[in-house]
Amino acid sequence: MALRLGDVAPDFTADSTAGTINFHEYLGDSWGVLFSHPKDFTPVCTTELGRVAALKAEFDRRNVKVLGLSVDGLADHEAWSSDIEETQGTALNFPLLADPDRTVSDLYDMIHPNADDTLTVRSVFVIGPDKTIKLSLTYPASTGRNFDEILRTIDSLQLTAEHKVATPVDWQQGEDVIIVPAVSDEEAAERFPSGFTTVKPYLRYTKQPS
Ligand code: BEZ
Repeated sequence: MALRLGDVAPDFTADSTAGTINFHEYLGDSWGVLFSHPKDFTPVCTTELGRVAALKAEFDRRNVKVLGLSVDGLADHEAWSSDIEETQGTALNFPLLADPDRTVSDLYDMIHPNADDTLTVRSVFVIGPDKTIKLSLTYPASTGRNFDEILRTIDSLQLTAEHKVATPVDWQQGEDVIIVPAVSDEEAAERFPSGFTTVKPYLRYTKQPS
């Protein structure tokens, strides 16, 4: 059955470019991003992996451990990594899982047979420190993902896990946020001392809590 938000991210042990990884141990108390790419030595995947490597410091800053995966074997991952460094300007700096028997791909429903019955789609799972799935995305092989958007969603997930707020359309770090409807005006006045603006009774903005 497909994984849903709030489900515990299934645990597994698998080979990776950084040695054998037990997923839950690897995550520890951190947030996690597990993402699949369809195939090594392919153009869009090469750009994506290079971009994730370039953003490593941004993931670290947010206490997020990143883990990539495809159904290719370790030897391919290792050979391909020098192409990524050469063409994208950044060496791989996070582990890539080798999943030739599709154990992890099947566990996370990353193979969508009506799209392609042999390769994973571009899945992304953001996992919280409690090991539950906070967000999932699925892109087709033809469309490279925007990892700045994934960082933006992590900013929202981390903020809304701590405060009774939600983030509006196109929100970026530092911009005003929405007070969730379950919070009364009286409680909002206490929780958000900088004040809030009521556009409609259900649409109230306040400064981003720090
Ligand atoms: C790519 O990364 O370019 C790609 C991978 C698999 C199928 C199609 C495109």
